[in-house]
Amino acid sequence: MTDPQFALTERVQQALAAAFGAEYSDADPLIRPSQFADYQANVAMSLSKRLRRAPREVAQEIAEHLTGRADDPFPGTVEVSGPGFLNLTLSDDWITAQVSEIHTDPRAGVGVSASPQTIVIDYSAPNAAKEMHVGHLRTTIVGDALARVHEHLGNRVIRQNHLGDWGTPFGMLIEHLLDIGEEAAVAQLEAGEGNAYYQAARVKFDTDPEFNRRARTRVVTLQAEEPETMRLWHIFMDATVRYFNKVYVQLGVTLTNEDIAGESMYNHVLAQVCDELQERGIAVLSDGALCVFPPGYTGREGQPLPLMIRKSDGGYGYGTTDMATIRYRVQDLKADRILYVIGATQALHMSMVFDSARMAGWLPDHVRAEHIQIGSVLGSDGKMFKTRSGQSVKLLELLDEAETRAAGVIQDREYDDAEREKIAHAVGMGAVKYADLSVSHDSEYVFDFDRMLALTGNTGPYLQYAQARIRSIFRRGGVTPAETTGPIVLGHPAERALALQLLRFGSVVEEMAENSAPHKLASYLFDTASAFTTFFENCPVLKDDVEAATRASRLALCALTLKVMEAGLGLLGVPVPERM
Ligand code: ARG
Repeated sequence: MTDPQFALTERVQQALAAAFGAEYSDADPLIRPSQFADYQANVAMSLSKRLRRAPREVAQEIAEHLTGRADDPFPGTVEVSGPGFLNLTLSDDWITAQVSEIHTDPRAGVGVSASPQTIVIDYSAPNAAKEMHVGHLRTTIVGDALARVHEHLGNRVIRQNHLGDWGTPFGMLIEHLLDIGEEAAVAQLEAGEGNAYYQAARVKFDTDPEFNRRARTRVVTLQAEEPETMRLWHIFMDATVRYFNKVYVQLGVTLTNEDIAGESMYNHVLAQVCDELQERGIAVLSDGALCVFPPGYTGREGQPLPLMIRKSDGGYGYGTTDMATIRYRVQDLKADRILYVIGATQALHMSMVFDSARMAGWLPDHVRAEHIQIGSVLGSDGKMFKTRSGQSVKLLELLDEAETRAAGVIQDREYDDAEREKIAHAVGMGAVKYADLSVSHDSEYVFDFDRMLALTGNTGPYLQYAQARIRSIFRRGGVTPAETTGPIVLGHPAERALALQLLRFGSVVEEMAENSAPHKLASYLFDTASAFTTFFENCPVLKDDVEAATRASRLALCALTLKVMEAGLGLLGVPVPERM
């Protein structure tokens, strides 16, 4: 247990059980960083009521149990202070032993799951023939970070890009493709002009009766998966996916064509899904539509709300596909846990799908299904993010702009053009991605280039810069991080604070995976960079008058900090440029 807060929590819980009985063994000791010691435990105050004793007396008794174990001495000192705080200071020996261990550990203290799980992650999922918008950017970035962290912990990750690639609009989209010709259509779609393409088809659909008739017929042949229609559908989808892939490549997300599992994939099982649910009485007909009524959902007038799985005209919808999706992920993919990284606006839909799937027995109790709600990205006007002209923003253009602006940020440094371009790319993408990851995934935030590209504050570029600065220490010192041997000695309080911070990495990574909370790792990395800055300002590393042993120790701390920063940013999917 390298995380000092965890180690202390365990110790205090054992002392509680020994002092007051086993029922106290899982009380939260309320360990917090302290001004007067490494940490303080506030548990005596919260327990005093339950125990009907003075808090200071309770604290005293905990302290005695903490330090009184001859077989396993407390690795530091305990002091009761004020009305009943327990001040806990860890011994230098304990800290250096732990920190030396993770200094030589290639995983920097991040464990590997003892019982790996199969984790299905549904993310990105843009819609064909509609612009991939900033919201999809955020589900893509957050989902990708979750995929990376679970893989790193040794879980089996199955990415599912649930593209919107099916449904009635495809009738008119295919007919429009025939009208303008394959080549023109492909060019337009590959360029990310899906919106314009859709609009043009839509106008004809609404105004041209002949086109309208053709589009409707096309929906029928599409549903039947008639070969010529499928050929045209593939041309349309392949070009669209090529555009999505450009965005993925530029962003550096791990999604590939292998991960595509769009709505179309479920077309052939939708009828069966409906039949089965109807036969088993889980879905019932209501005004001609087939619906599941999971308990606990009511509309304004108190009427039960349906999850519609077949419309009265016989068509299937989003709910049908999602029921098929969940069944497939549990039965075929053998998921232990399913993460749906989707906009917060779909919360009701997802919750009804999960409950309906539980009713159907398709989502057994031992499988966790979670909607990782993604908050909206807003413009400076507080409304949904759009361009000045009110159009939705073209993602590739947005990413290009991030890179151009990033080049401005690093303008005054001396790099050749190729190097500058590489760094600008890393900084631009790092800024955009980190902005999505550093706030809790369900909160909204305002898209603001100036803020996300700032070199100070909790931003991607600040963290990239922090790690690049550590690299430059090694360049100047003529050593590589791998060559640092320590031993690590803690002299200055800033060294101690940095060491304690570094020891937390493994548990923070686990917390991110458990709670699907990339922002926890982000703020940990920000705190780590700050602890490093304080260390570096107070503890010279390369200066001539620094003793060899001190220099070796400090270089080892630099190397470990770099390893943690690099690994942490890597898990978030934020690129780490060598220089900045
Ligand atoms: N295509 C959908 C959208 O843009 C997201 C799909 C999410 N996945 C799912 N299984 N419903 O909103």
